[in-house]
Amino acid sequence: MMLSLGAGESNMTLRHFDFNPTGKFIVSLAGAALLLAGCTASPEVQQTAQTGTVATQAAPPVVPRQSVNALMVTMIDNAGHVLWDVEKPGFAPKNDADWLEIENHATQLEAASTLIQLGGTGPEDSAWAGQSAWKADAKAMGDAAMAALAAAKSKNLQALVMANGALVGTCESCHKAFKPTLPTEGLLHQSPHSESHETNR
Ligand code: HEC
Repeated sequence: MMLSLGAGESNMTLRHFDFNPTGKFIVSLAGAALLLAGCTASPEVQQTAQTGTVATQAAPPVVPRQSVNALMVTMIDNAGHVLWDVEKPGFAPKNDADWLEIENHATQLEAASTLIQLGGTGPEDSAWAGQSAWKADAKAMGDAAMAALAAAKSKNLQALVMANGALVGTCESCHKAFKPTLPTEGLLHQSPHSESHETNR
């Protein structure tokens, strides 16, 4: 193994691993890394090979700092209503800025579908996020958001309305499974969502 390395390199590597009980194995790995790295290796790669830290250290896990409920209210419900509102008389997107607003909110919705799969700070959040049915419902919401995003990018109102229909189905399906006894705030929002939202338009 070490024959294929330059004398300087192998000495350096061996010296470093003199006291390591599994030295032989790690030296081989380090040697292989040096060999693969060749002349174009970045300083970090060479450093890694020389110190023997072949595997990079795992980053700490992502810890959510919001509850699922907070994401529901601030991101998901909010973004959902911006999308659904296009179906109200007089609210169909009229210009580039209107379509961009749909794009932005579809993007938020899709991102939130990923976030709620990480759990959250609510008492039930980790238990929910640990279930495959939760992940499937969250992903279905993200899929509908992606369809809405594509519709907005191509300024296709009909496709957006289709995506909106799929979207509301995903909210209902998950709420039925995971929050049957909690109040629903009225998912379809026959009445205006909030004053600030209305005056935003
Ligand atoms: C993956 C499952 C899931 C999906 C998908 C989902 N929700 Fe939720 N939602 C929940 C759960 C569970 C709660 C209750 C959280 C709690 O009480 O801690 C909740 C709470 C809410 C709340 C706040 C409580 C209430 O009922 O007023 C709103 C608003 C809400 N969701 C709207 C939506 C909308 C709109 C959609 C679709 C665009 C949606 N949700 C999609 C699971 C989901």
